[in-house]
Amino acid sequence: MQFSVNPAGLQGWDGTTLALGIVTTSFDEQLNLIEPLFQGSITETLKEKNFSGKEGSIETFQLISKQIKKLILVGLGNKDSLNLDTLRKASAKIARSSIGSPGELGVLFPWEYFEQQDAACAVSEAIRLSLFKDKRFNNNSEPTIRPSSVNLIGLKDSINESLQKVNPICAGVELARELVGSPANELTPTSLAKQALQIAKEYKFKAKVLSQKECQELGMGAYLAVSKGSDIPPQFIHLVYSPEGKAKHRVALVGKGLTFDSGGYNLKVGAAQIDLMKFDMGGSATVLGTARSIGELRPKDIEIHFIIAACENMINGSAVHPGDIVKASNGKTIEINNTDAEGRLTLADALVYTSKLKPEIIIDLATLTGACVIALGDEIAGLWTDDDQLAQKLKNAAAASGEGLWRMPMQNSYKDGLKSLLADLKNTGPRAGGSITAALFLKEFVESSIAWAHIDIAGTVWTEKEKGLNPPGATGYGVRTLVNWLENGFKD
Ligand code: BES
Ligand code: MG
Ligand code: ZN
Repeated sequence: MQFSVNPAGLQGWDGTTLALGIVTTSFDEQLNLIEPLFQGSITETLKEKNFSGKEGSIETFQLISKQIKKLILVGLGNKDSLNLDTLRKASAKIARSSIGSPGELGVLFPWEYFEQQDAACAVSEAIRLSLFKDKRFNNNSEPTIRPSSVNLIGLKDSINESLQKVNPICAGVELARELVGSPANELTPTSLAKQALQIAKEYKFKAKVLSQKECQELGMGAYLAVSKGSDIPPQFIHLVYSPEGKAKHRVALVGKGLTFDSGGYNLKVGAAQIDLMKFDMGGSATVLGTARSIGELRPKDIEIHFIIAACENMINGSAVHPGDIVKASNGKTIEINNTDAEGRLTLADALVYTSKLKPEIIIDLATLTGACVIALGDEIAGLWTDDDQLAQKLKNAAAASGEGLWRMPMQNSYKDGLKSLLADLKNTGPRAGGSITAALFLKEFVESSIAWAHIDIAGTVWTEKEKGLNPPGATGYGVRTLVNWLENGFKD
């Protein structure tokens, strides 16, 4: 999908589908702008339909004989409550309503209320991302007829440059959505590693995949314990993006990569939707989606490591027993009192490995706890870090991207809940505060001199219903926030 601007405004535009965002407070002026194009027919019809620009309202007109074949009007509400998210939601509505109309979609929003560059990118991303549909597994799905290009009417030429980032970012989000949407028979640790190597090849990243044996040699007893009950071998994935010239910063992104989480002998039963646990590699999907975007955007000054300890949590005769004691690669012993708290075991060794690379900052993303879903729902991910500056930068990046992120407490006293009678620590504590003890568990495996943040995306990885720019299913949560943070988080 092509994105461009038309500084000449409506008069200079000659596309086929026109969409307008209407603010209640300037309803009349905005309609006066388009009325000449339709000889006075629009205002009257809108009055009949009671359309006044209320937020979320939408009206469409099929126009047969004119150059403009379809007119879409969306309400943006009152000008005082406008923000980028209003534009994202309205853009998603416009995009869905433009299905069936080929050619160019022209979008005219009241840009004067916004920072133009931010508004242009938010609108463009929302249009492309809301039109995403995963058709890989369906023989009967027809190709969707949709606009091939989008023109932002009335924005100045200089905005075109920032629009160049829209497609690389959206491609990363869509890759993450496809990875998460892939069922566990399709996306195995092996095929995840293959896809990672493919990205590395395409964008000239350094890459290595450690085998089970190599992980054993590194003493990754926590990670390998999780993988033991699976017939498919684990794959420890490490990609490196290097900028042109000398890097000023080094950061690492670590993603939980459970291609399926059955729970192990603490099998997921009852309310838990076990079939959805194909999405338990959501953290790694965000990491690879970000890698895909970064490969195209190629930011300066920053070296980025992408790390995934991929495996399955399954059950067979070799599977880990509840109560087993294992040793992680930093020497700490862990009593696995619950085999379903497997993500933190895989991340433990991934974080030790990553710490040895001595990056300035480590960020891990994981569908780690049901407790986080209970606390924050499916629109907000949880953020844990001891570093106030890093927290602020990540929150800024998330807010700019329109992704929900809320800082949660790193309550050190709750570490008591992880005390084990026999080992250095247990992998689970009490039910209450479960996402906090999970974060505290991870902290035990990060070198303390490195700034580290943990993002629990258990709720945000998936949406049952269409929500804003997310169609039902995998959301690709986190890619936009991370790309934004990588590009802006190191500026003063
Ligand atoms: N992958 C799950 C977490 C999860 C649950 C993600 C629901 C999305 C929706 C994780 O491995 C898990 O099973 N966590 C347990 C931890 C518990 C045993 C302490 C949980 O949250 O129930
Ligand atoms: Mg689990
Ligand atoms: Zn899990």
